Amino acid sequence: MVDTVHHPLFARFYTVLARLAESAGTAEHRQELLSGVEGRIVEVGSGAGTNFVHYPATVAEVIAVEPESYLRDRSRAAALHAPVPVTVMDGSADALPVEDGWADAVVFSLVLCSVTDPAAALAEARRVLRPGGALRFYEHVRAGSPRRARLQDRVDRVWPYCAGGCHCNRDTPRTIEASGFDIEHIRRFDLRLGWVVAPVAPHAIGTAVLRAG
Ligand SMILES: C[S@@+](CC[C@H](N)C(=O)[O-])C[C@H]1O[C@@H](n2cnc3c(N)ncnc32)[C@H](O)[C@@H]1O
Repeated sequence: MVDTVHHPLFARFYTVLARLAESAGTAEHRQELLSGVEGRIVEVGSGAGTNFVHYPATVAEVIAVEPESYLRDRSRAAALHAPVPVTVMDGSADALPVEDGWADAVVFSLVLCSVTDPAAALAEARRVLRPGGALRFYEHVRAGSPRRARLQDRVDRVWPYCAGGCHCNRDTPRTIEASGFDIEHIRRFDLRLGWVVAPVAPHAIGTAVLRAG
């Protein structure tokens, strides 16, 4: 089933939050996420288009897919100032409007926490990637410490209702590996912005490649 995403209040709140967070440290994370990417890119769930200014000149073209109408408009506005060509499309992670094998890289940033079915989103990423293509991810993740992970599990009973469907307790790197990718590089860290609350502090930035065979 294709996700329908309609979070008008959260979309407006997140647009402001993402902009403030850029000057508080996430701009560097987004640069790290996109460092060295090249060719044709599919960005899934582009939100307000906050990544766009960080694409390097080695990128030929970005197709950005955003299902939430307010955020899609923000992405379209951001695309006008992007240093590389960006086309913003309506669509969902589990049914990307892109042909098989088109992309050199697929980018997920702070999205696999929010899609209904991360495995379905990653299956779509596999479909649109060319052989040898790469997955770039920047996600908040399940904590490594059992005590913090239990706290995340408790908070997650209400978190999605306040945060546009986002789950704070997903073990996204594990799901990526279970979905036919090998993680080549991962950096785990706690996001330490004054106003980032503990359940979404553990983050990971990394690159995965399609597993051969
Ligand atoms: C926390 S925001 C992150 C936005 C942006 N990627 C960023 O880095 O700031 C989560 C995003 O996931 C999107 N999203 C939720 N469900 C989705 C789905 N099924 N397919 C694609 N995007 C989805 C939301 O609309 C929103 O843009």
